[in-house]
Amino acid sequence: MTERLWTFVAGADGPWRMTEVRGVIGEPLPEAPRLDRIAGDAATTGLWSLRGITSNERYVNRDERQALAAATPTLGRAQAVCAVLIPIRKSAAWWALAQDERRAVMEEQSHHIAHGLRALPAVARRLHHCRDLSPDEPFDFLTWFEFAPEHAPLFDDLLARLRASPEWVYVEHECEVRARLD
Ligand code: HEM
Repeated sequence: MTERLWTFVAGADGPWRMTEVRGVIGEPLPEAPRLDRIAGDAATTGLWSLRGITSNERYVNRDERQALAAATPTLGRAQAVCAVLIPIRKSAAWWALAQDERRAVMEEQSHHIAHGLRALPAVARRLHHCRDLSPDEPFDFLTWFEFAPEHAPLFDDLLARLRASPEWVYVEHECEVRARLD
């Protein structure tokens, strides 16, 4: 069975060397030398760790699902030596919206999927959900991206678009951890 639970562990070990850690909205995570993405609930000796589970899609329609399936690359490509971990917590106002209202903010108003699709297949992505694990998790989502160095500008352009969109009004804590595979 494909592993659904993943733990990001920051500490002395791991294939990814952290190059930048910042708080985009709110407090940053503590800096650490290395980062690992470990299958399962990893008991950790690291400085910090965050857990999340992959899940079914909530918002995509059929056309978007097909477009995503056709363009989505796998994680772990040899050339994708840049990674970004972006943990995000959304506000109570977001979670008070109904499913169709959240979809409308995300896509009809913010074009999250349409803009995101333009970054494929350059950027590989994985969305992990934290709220379903426990209400005490510090973030709602752990988003993970891998791409080759020449695609960093494409990724940064997507980040700028998303952060300027109506969806981000509902983001109350967002951190950014950049890393290189070396
Ligand atoms: C959710 C696509 C980049 C943050 C989603 C969903 C899709 C998607 C299809 C909805 C999943 C569902 O139906 O449940 C993409 C694509 C990207 C991209 C193709 C291109 C690389 C990003 C980036 C960020 C981000 C750069 C962070 C800055 C999120 C978050 C969610 C999400 C937090 C969950 C939203 C929620 O459920 O409230 N993305 N995305 N995405 N994405 Fe992206």
